[in-house]
Amino acid sequence: MIFLMDNNGFKGRDIISIRDFSKKDLLYLLSIAKRMEQSPDTSLLNNKIASLLFFEPSTRTRLSFDSAFKKLGGKTIGFAQAEVTSVKKGETLWDTIKMVEQYSDVIIMRHYIEGAARLAAEAASIPVLNAGDGANQHPTQTLLDLYTILKEKGTLEGLNIGFLGDLKYGRTVHSLAIALSHFNAKMFFISPKALSMPKDYLDELKGKNIKFTEAEDVAEVSKQLDVLYVTRIQKERFADALEYEKYKNAYKLDKSLLKISKKDLIIMHPLPRVGEINPELDDTKNAVYFRQAGNGIPVRQALLALVLGKIK
Ligand code: CP
Repeated sequence: MIFLMDNNGFKGRDIISIRDFSKKDLLYLLSIAKRMEQSPDTSLLNNKIASLLFFEPSTRTRLSFDSAFKKLGGKTIGFAQAEVTSVKKGETLWDTIKMVEQYSDVIIMRHYIEGAARLAAEAASIPVLNAGDGANQHPTQTLLDLYTILKEKGTLEGLNIGFLGDLKYGRTVHSLAIALSHFNAKMFFISPKALSMPKDYLDELKGKNIKFTEAEDVAEVSKQLDVLYVTRIQKERFADALEYEKYKNAYKLDKSLLKISKKDLIIMHPLPRVGEINPELDDTKNAVYFRQAGNGIPVRQALLALVLGKIK
């Protein structure tokens, strides 16, 4: 079942791409997340079961979905690697979804193939939430990223946002840039040339008259930034291991960044980090990446309660 986003409510919807969210959808979801954080209802999802199907490694997304669902009174089933399932015997994704939908009320799936979430949504008669599909999109990460920016900066409107790292393969960057295009953001894409933001995303931003610039060195733009969104170089997406070796140490941020930045710059990262942020930044007021990961709970609770029709 594919339900595209419109203004008719979230109940029964699939969450596949951030492009399916209007600005109104995003703001509504964020308001429900705030409500979840302030006064969670521990019996809201009683008698509901979520399937967590993770065909790719995850720490934050899988565990925060699991925790979010259980904190609202629901139960979860699923797997953290496909090797322990009948996929190993050759079962197709389509058939796997046809089985899982009979055991649960909602499917949360991460897959290494771009478009796998869309296929799962076509197969399923229950809502499917994309927890990351290849280098394509990671819409629920984007929702918690927006929630974090709103909490930390007090607004989503008119901010200068820098994206640094592997912008070619970083799906969180792709989703977040599209979402921020609703909020009159100015974007600064900072990466090695070979890992720059894909042309189709830049064309989409141009089509929406969003201002952006590209740079290789963060020092060129750091003074202008309100938010710096850092990503790791995505080793698993490189076809050639030698290419990864060339770029793996492209960025190593440390406290010297703060000398050439606004005082109230916030530094975000979807995590995991693999050396691009020195832990010496962790205790500064600028580093918000651990709080950012924590925001996955209320945001995912809001999304789950909405698609299951528990919030009108
Ligand atoms: N941010 C994120 O998607 O982390 P995991 O890969 O650990 O889920």
